[in-house]
Amino acid sequence: MSDQGQVVIFDTTLRDAEQTPGSSLTVREKMEIAHQLARLKVDVIEAGFPASSNEDFEAVRRIAQEVAGPAICGLARVVPRDIERAGEALQGAPRPRIHTFVGTSDINIQGQLRKTRDEVLKMAVGAVQQAKAYCADVEFSPMDATRTDPDYLCEVVAATIEAGATTINIPDTVGYAVPEQMGELIRYLRERVANIDQAIISIHCHDDLGLAVANSLAALKYGARQAECTINGLGERAGNAALEEIVMAIKTRGEYFGLSCGVETRELFPTSRLVSRLMRSVVPRNKSVVGANAFAHSSGIHQDGVLKQRSTFEIMSPEDVGVESNQIVLTARSGRHALRHRLEQLGHKLSKEEVDKAYERFLEVADKKTEIYDEDLLAIVGDEIRDVPEKFRLDYLHTISGTGTVPSATVRLVIDGETVVQESAWGDGPVDAAYRAIDKASGATSKIEEYAIRAVTSGSQAMGEVTVQVNEQGRTLTGRGASTDIIEASAKAYIDALNRLAAATGAQRQHPQAV
Ligand code: KIV
Ligand code: ZN
Repeated sequence: MSDQGQVVIFDTTLRDAEQTPGSSLTVREKMEIAHQLARLKVDVIEAGFPASSNEDFEAVRRIAQEVAGPAICGLARVVPRDIERAGEALQGAPRPRIHTFVGTSDINIQGQLRKTRDEVLKMAVGAVQQAKAYCADVEFSPMDATRTDPDYLCEVVAATIEAGATTINIPDTVGYAVPEQMGELIRYLRERVANIDQAIISIHCHDDLGLAVANSLAALKYGARQAECTINGLGERAGNAALEEIVMAIKTRGEYFGLSCGVETRELFPTSRLVSRLMRSVVPRNKSVVGANAFAHSSGIHQDGVLKQRSTFEIMSPEDVGVESNQIVLTARSGRHALRHRLEQLGHKLSKEEVDKAYERFLEVADKKTEIYDEDLLAIVGDEIRDVPEKFRLDYLHTISGTGTVPSATVRLVIDGETVVQESAWGDGPVDAAYRAIDKASGATSKIEEYAIRAVTSGSQAMGEVTVQVNEQGRTLTGRGASTDIIEASAKAYIDALNRLAAATGAQRQHPQAV
């Protein structure tokens, strides 16, 4: 293991976070995020799980070929077919890595795999040896490591290093660990595994108890030198350790940890917003480092202090994480160039056609609002620039509601660019009425699982942004819509979700079983 204080930042947004229901991405969207992760200068991008679907295979293959800078990693279970698919997807890549994993806790071995410890050990060793035939850089994860018998864990780690693993990742798969215990586990491995110096120890924490970042930092303090994390902390269940929090903790408390990393921190905010838009997952206002309130001082004493000397109440500067202090950016008189420039600063590189589309919408919004904030621009881009065909397009929406009135809606949809269908319905409120009318017009039978609305900025002129999670035949997808009219935003979000469902038909992902 390296004794240097340099931490390898391994981003798994495109793999661990992307497998969350409702957050799936198209290949093009994954490419966009991967390019942004390269600008962020992460060391490793886990681009997907090639054996899980043809789409994932293609995404890993293209990212490995086209995204320069970071090592590109493909995930594989400890089965020959998975390793083969990962090897094929990474073929010819400048910096390929295969990451193979198997559950090593008795709960996993007996409860799910129905195998013995010996069998699992052999499979792990075999998989690492097979992966070595495709690339030198091989990572092995004993899944559920924090609930694995520590002596058996040492045995598996030693054997997989002996087989050629260059990184050993310690996953807290179910978010069970607490920081002190995590530090101790890393110390134990370093003391007990004779060949541990031949591999980098990595940490991969989930946030079920809200401890993912604290556990990751404890592991780094005790000698781990790779942190696996995701943008905005997205991921399975409560999510993974948030990349931006780990990176800024290392940077802000560098002396305490004796660590550093190569991440370009000014790209953190643009990356956060890009991922939020494409994965249709709103960043909470109070989210550390990248939340809208992360640098907003509201109490009088704090405002006074910051105005006199920023360090009184700020431990990081907004500019360091890519938040511009000048929040009001454009007006109705701003041109396309200014819009394109500002969007690029926010992490959105758009084609000419996309800029034209965004500009048209920008002018509409600018006519209604006196001040256009970055958050408004991001909502406009999220609304206009979509990577799914528009099977259903909202052409007309009229709703009636009020005290003592039965809420009703009339909706006109254009289907497949040609058929025009108009329907009316009543409901519990104007949004419900609009959704019922959309169901009638589109023939949708999906179930709405979640509906959320938020004001993008403050004030009564604020844009409203709606996210709707729908489920049809076990497939969950999320749609997003924004408008200064919240009923319109709701209708757009629902139609976006229906378009995503339509696009997902035929590109269904298999959910691999445990080995
Ligand atoms: O959480 C986990 O254990 C994983 C492994 C595949 C590393 O994501
Ligand atoms: Zn995980």
